[in-house]
Amino acid sequence: MIDLHTHVLPGIDDGPKKAEESIRMLADAYKQGVRLCGATPHVVLHQEDAIAHFIKKRQESYRALSAEMEKASLSFPKLILGAEVFLDHDITRHDALKALCLEETPYILVEFPLSAPYNPYWSEWLHSLIVRGFRPIVAHIDRYLHAEKMLSDFHGLAITYQINAARFRSFSGRRFVGRLLSEAAPCIVGSDMHNMAVRNCDIQIAFTKANKKFPKKAEALFSGTAMQMLKPYFGGEKYDKIAY
Ligand SMILES: [Fe+2]
Repeated sequence: MIDLHTHVLPGIDDGPKKAEESIRMLADAYKQGVRLCGATPHVVLHQEDAIAHFIKKRQESYRALSAEMEKASLSFPKLILGAEVFLDHDITRHDALKALCLEETPYILVEFPLSAPYNPYWSEWLHSLIVRGFRPIVAHIDRYLHAEKMLSDFHGLAITYQINAARFRSFSGRRFVGRLLSEAAPCIVGSDMHNMAVRNCDIQIAFTKANKKFPKKAEALFSGTAMQMLKPYFGGEKYDKIAY
């Protein structure tokens, strides 16, 4: 499986504080069948130097985690670096946005305020990212108060919807996924894991539930679609980084 939405880097956001917890999260995800993780810490772009500051912090965190992973005699998913970018104003004015994409791809994971009043400019902001060559992945589309309105406003945009694995646990969640699958935009599942306690990786149980409810779509949701998205950007030698 491929999980492109995780908070596994230590000490950078509301994910694990220490690399030891990151290690446990990644080992657990591997046991559940995850072979590739996008590490996507939260970033808010209120200040002009926010991206440079974030990239520096992310690099330090990744370095600390990699050192611990090398020492541990456990199996882990491969990691690619990205961000979960909070869109609460027009971020397209930032020049360095490319640094927030999932490594060398144009895919950028974006989130909106979860319960703020609906903002009719959200679709315009997505559009302005798209015309600049980005391919937004809308994080946890299942979590928004205004999800239905968003689906209708975002219709036709070159975006991907990401659904949280936890949503498959409830009947209403699975019904929402069924609704989402009727949209033309591609959909992928991610864990959005933050820790080993309440927001852990529950992708295996989600896959089992999805396979029962949407047997023809489960493989694409948990692996195939993400692989298709990434593959063109990891050609040649770099392919090893995402092959599993
Ligand atoms: Fe997240």
